[in-house]
Parts: sequence; C-alpha cells; structure tokens
Amino acid sequence: MAGNWKMHKTVDEATELVEQLKKALADVEGREILVCPPFTALHAVARAVEGNNIQLGAQNLYPAAEGAYTGEISPRMLVDVRCRYVVLGHSERRQYFKEIDPFINHKLRVALEHGLNPILCVGETLEQRGEGRQKTIVSMQVYRGLQEIDAEAMKNVAIAYEPVWAIGTGQTATPNQANEMHWAIRNNVSGLFGEDVAQETCIMYGGSVKPDNVDDLMAQPDVDGVLVGGASLKAESFARIVKYRS
Ligand code: PGA
Repeated sequence: MAGNWKMHKTVDEATELVEQLKKALADVEGREILVCPPFTALHAVARAVEGNNIQLGAQNLYPAAEGAYTGEISPRMLVDVRCRYVVLGHSERRQYFKEIDPFINHKLRVALEHGLNPILCVGETLEQRGEGRQKTIVSMQVYRGLQEIDAEAMKNVAIAYEPVWAIGTGQTATPNQANEMHWAIRNNVSGLFGEDVAQETCIMYGGSVKPDNVDDLMAQPDVDGVLVGGASLKAESFARIVKYRS
C-alpha cells in the first residue's frame, strides 16, 4: 500500500503528515506500507519512520552511483537516506521528461544492483485504450522494462499498472478492468520468469485510488496492492486506504 507524494510537501509538511500516519497506522499488521516523499523530504521522513511499520521509497533515480550529472540523485544517495524502494517509469516521467523503456530498464537494473526494490510503472493512454491496444502497450512496457533481469532479481521488483487516463482524473479503472490488465501482466511475467515468480510478483493498481473504491479494487484476485497519488496526501484518506476491508 504505497503513497506517491509526487511534487508535494515541504520538509515540515512531510514530517507532519508522516507523524499523523504513524498514529493512524500504528495498529496495522501484516500489510506493507510505503510512502514516497519528494527527495528533499526523504531524510526527515526516514528519521520519523525509524523502527516503524512505514517503509520509505523515492520517486525516481539516475542510473549511476555518482558522477557529473548535475541535478540528479543516485541510488547510493537513496540507500544512504534509508530508502528501500524506488518508483520507476511513472507515466508523468514518461510524458513530461520523455523517459523511454530502455532508460527505465537501465534505472531498474542499477536500482537492483544497489539493493533497492523498484516499482516499475506501466500503463496505456486513453487513446491507446480507445484503439483496443492496452494489452499490447502494457506488455511491451513490461518486456522492455524487465530486460536482462533474472528470476532471482525479479523477486525484488513490483509492477504498478497505472492507466494514464485514470491518474489524477478521478476516473478509476473499474475493478474488472484493473484485474483484467493485472492478469495479463502476470502472464507476461510468467512468460519471462516462470509461473512461480509470476504468482509471487506484487502487481499494484494506481490511478485515482480513493477510500471509497479501494475495497473493491483490493478484492480482485490479481490486485496485490495500490499506488496512491492524491489520496495519499492526507493522513485520514491514506490510512483508510491502507486499512482496506477485504
Ligand atoms: P492519483 O495518482 O492517485 O492521484 O491518480 C496515482 C499515481 O500517479 O501514482
């Protein structure tokens, strides 16, 4: 159950939110909880969640340990601030920053080399869905994103299916639409790494997940988790999402 805070929250605001989450989620057991603050707030949030049931993730990285890459953040730096996860290939990065599959794959491999657990985001646009190409597009993103990964490494990778038309729009995929795509993705993973790995792979849904639709989404057999944007910015709504009823 992951919150992607995107480009929101100053250090003070991030700290306040995570303190509220700690209280609201103190009694949650057996569910993996993850928050992904902006880079500037990672260190403060890392300190706040120490010894807690909330894990820390970053929203991106540059695929080199260090070097002359002005303005970028390396996996080493993320590990240093105790990140365990990193979101890669989010549709906003594909759309606004022109990230393409081979670059995302490079990031994913370097993240794994540094012991980070990548969350690979995939998803089709409204136009692509209109043309009935959603499975082709998403399979391609999965295959290209997971190039040169072996089955052992794949155990540390999660996939987030995030239809672009559902992100920040209030228009969620129906539970059936989500499950159909997750099933297709699991088949892709099975083809690449075998059925056992596919069954173990965490496939998350993202795109306008809210307290009032999370229960139905999580009830789907192939929906293993959610990646939440807008509704993760308030403790009350994110806590309700983490505490989905199944
Ligand atoms: P949203 O964002 O929940 O605001 O639609 C989801 C995401 O982009 O990860």
